[in-house]
Amino acid sequence: MATIIYFSGSGNGFFLANEVAKATGANLVSLKNAPSVIEDEEVGFVFPNYCGDIPTFVFDKLKEMNFTGIKYCYFLLDAGLSDGFAKNTMQDLLKEKGITLNYYDLLCFSSNFFTTIVNVSQKKREKLNKRATDKLPLVIENIKNRISLPIKKKNGFLDFNKKIAYFFIVKFLRGERKIATSDCIGCGLCESLCPTHNIKISDGKAVFGNDCTYCYSCCHWCPTGAVKFGRITIKGLKQYRNPNVDSKDLI
Ligand SMILES: Cc1cc2nc3c(=O)[nH]c(=O)nc-3n(C[C@H](O)[C@H](O)[C@H](O)COP(=O)(O)O)c2cc1C
Ligand code: SF4
Ligand code: SF4
Repeated sequence: MATIIYFSGSGNGFFLANEVAKATGANLVSLKNAPSVIEDEEVGFVFPNYCGDIPTFVFDKLKEMNFTGIKYCYFLLDAGLSDGFAKNTMQDLLKEKGITLNYYDLLCFSSNFFTTIVNVSQKKREKLNKRATDKLPLVIENIKNRISLPIKKKNGFLDFNKKIAYFFIVKFLRGERKIATSDCIGCGLCESLCPTHNIKISDGKAVFGNDCTYCYSCCHWCPTGAVKFGRITIKGLKQYRNPNVDSKDLI
């Protein structure tokens, strides 16, 4: 048997994990609801690149999990542009648990990072997502053949890069200050989607806490574009959702 564990805010990762699961017969498990122990001989991970690494939510959750009986392990990183240190972080994390990462690949989609998607047309998004869909058959073939490839070590100042990126999101954009504008209709979708349970509906309106992993799920899926993320209200074309995914897939 095989299992794929994924984490996805705007749907790219879910789309990728789901396609691989359909082709390989693997069981799809959302990291948000994953059990603490996974017992399977083939385990795949599908996570996004946040600031050149895996999201902190993913890192913390994986640290707590245990895996038994793995004979083949792979990691697919979905990103807007490039991979950074995510593959090495995953390799080290898995090594601590006695697991060898056999295969890694990067698939680039249209980005959900709103600073990079302002004014990106629908047509451009389709073109960007085609990069990932075109690569998918090869990736699936590699997994089916249980291919093993060496994973290159990336050199650089990981923490430094990450700190700058988070400084930009949290301090410069004031990303920690999220509010629902008067457009909020209290539908509760953001509350159901949030991986850290950081949103509660109070008096018919979304109210945000301080435990955010910056997945942007609330911003991109809000039906009225009511989420104001720091200095930016993410509405209209600034919102990005993978076109093959429904919000229900991510709850
Ligand atoms: C906080 C944040 C940081 C990001 N940083 C990067 C990055 O450093 N490099 C990159 O290529 N993409 C970056 N992205 C884009 C995502 O990795 C990409 O859109 C991914 O496919 C989103 O997956 P999802 O749709 O499953 O949530 C970032 C996205 C977010 C939300
Ligand atoms: S998804 Fe949007 S409209 Fe619905 S509760 Fe959240 S902020 Fe309000
Ligand atoms: S508050 Fe929004 S951006 Fe932050 S973790 Fe929850 S859904 Fe993601």
